[in-house]
Amino acid sequence: MASPVVTPTGMRVLFATSEAAPLVKTGGLADVSSALPAALARLGSDVRVLLPGYGPVLAWIEGRGTPLATLSLPPFPDARLVEARGPDGRMLWVLDCPPLFARDGGLYQRRGGDDWPDNDVRFGLLSRAAAVLSRADSPVAWRPEVLHCNDWQTGLAPAWLALEPLPPGGRAGTVMTIHNLAYQGVFAPDSLPRLGLPWDWFRPDGVEFWGQLSFLKAGLQFADALSTVSPTYAQEIRQEPLGFGLQGLLAWRARDLVGILNGIDVDVWDPASDPLIPQRYDARTLAQKAENRAALRTRLGLDVDASVPLAGVVSRFAHQKGLDLLIGCAERALALPMQLAVLGSGDPILETAFQDLAARHPGRVGLLTGFDESLSHLIEAGADLFVMPSRYEPCGLNQMYSQRYGTPVVARRTGGLADSIVDATPEHLADGTATGVLFDAATPDALLAALARAAALFADRPAWRRMQQAGMARDFSWDAAARAVAALHARVARTG
Ligand code: ADP
Ligand code: GLC
Repeated sequence: MASPVVTPTGMRVLFATSEAAPLVKTGGLADVSSALPAALARLGSDVRVLLPGYGPVLAWIEGRGTPLATLSLPPFPDARLVEARGPDGRMLWVLDCPPLFARDGGLYQRRGGDDWPDNDVRFGLLSRAAAVLSRADSPVAWRPEVLHCNDWQTGLAPAWLALEPLPPGGRAGTVMTIHNLAYQGVFAPDSLPRLGLPWDWFRPDGVEFWGQLSFLKAGLQFADALSTVSPTYAQEIRQEPLGFGLQGLLAWRARDLVGILNGIDVDVWDPASDPLIPQRYDARTLAQKAENRAALRTRLGLDVDASVPLAGVVSRFAHQKGLDLLIGCAERALALPMQLAVLGSGDPILETAFQDLAARHPGRVGLLTGFDESLSHLIEAGADLFVMPSRYEPCGLNQMYSQRYGTPVVARRTGGLADSIVDATPEHLADGTATGVLFDAATPDALLAALARAAALFADRPAWRRMQQAGMARDFSWDAAARAVAALHARVARTG
């Protein structure tokens, strides 16, 4: 029986995720997994973040953790569940299973870029543990009313909770959040016995997807409620091409699917107090942003010329992000004129393309291939404008960081970019709401035209300053979004 929870606050929530900033991060999910639980806690919810015990996580909890339980969940290896406060003070539940998680390499991939071959077992265990801890017969006394799953790595948990017989006292309600539908956790059928899944779940209305096992489909099929990270993306994924094969299921579950635009951590991303930038500033002292620009130019070996706009990029190098469009128009963009400051890593073809570009244009293209948290802050603060030509973008965080740092964004009109940037149309320039430049076609020419529009606006200093200030005045904090998430929790919460 569902519990009579009517207020969106005061719920016990287990937030299951495969990364959380600042301990382990490959992208926006990590930022969300630290900022959203904090915002929910401010609303009165009692949140635990379930996270795999990767090396940096184990190093953090060393000497700080309290063992809660040993989880013996065959066919998985035994794991310990350890409770500890994270660097931000939030309560972490760490799934300590060194053979699966404490490895030298990436969270999902080994050095060199191949996926770990046992990712099904690694995240099968994460999902299994999330499910077991959300049932009345959990070995831990603290039991959630809501299990909030994130992306494919936790997608099997709702299936286990929906399909296995329940003990008296039942289970938590489940929410499945899609941060990126392109990553689905699809494995060959021989994964089923490796994960202890019964063959009769391997059906189109179960966990089967075109002859394979799909973790994300399992979550989308069986969670009580579904969400994704922007309203526009919630629409886009109900159709080809952005449904990536799951559009039918998502259209069928459309009534249970809500798009809630992510917030950002306004304490970590605050130009007025950011310890990672040399000169702090706010909307009134915007002129001081120039010192960060000078520092960024020095750091990346760029020529000093304040009349040339400096465009920044901080991104995973993946097809999604459309950086090949930037490569495709880079020479013409540099001739506008414009300079580029690029931080990113991933696809080796793109890494090489940017390295070649930087080698051909010393002083005009600055590049760091790798992951560098502090340079990412310096680019937000030091760039004149920020570029996100994403083919699709479920939410995107950098465009919100950029606006908060007074750095107007040039972006494709898709997903969360469309929902969080106000295009510099004549109307929006006139009423002072414009915060960036949006373009539609995923082509180098369309990106170039948008960069040219931005360069022209940059030359009109008062217009540009109004755009900077409009972006800085926007409220991208989690407060409103967390209330929407808490309302979703209240809808599905169950104690029995
Ligand atoms: P996604 O999760 O798809 O990569 P988001 O915009 O939601 O995109 O989040 C990306 C996050 O990862 C941001 O916090 C961004 O600053 C950070 N990031 C991406 N690439 C790098 C990098 N090479 N170095 C430092 N931070 C990065
Ligand atoms: C994913 C998406 C990104 C989103 C992030 C956090 O990584 O690619 O658009 O901002 O998740 O929800």
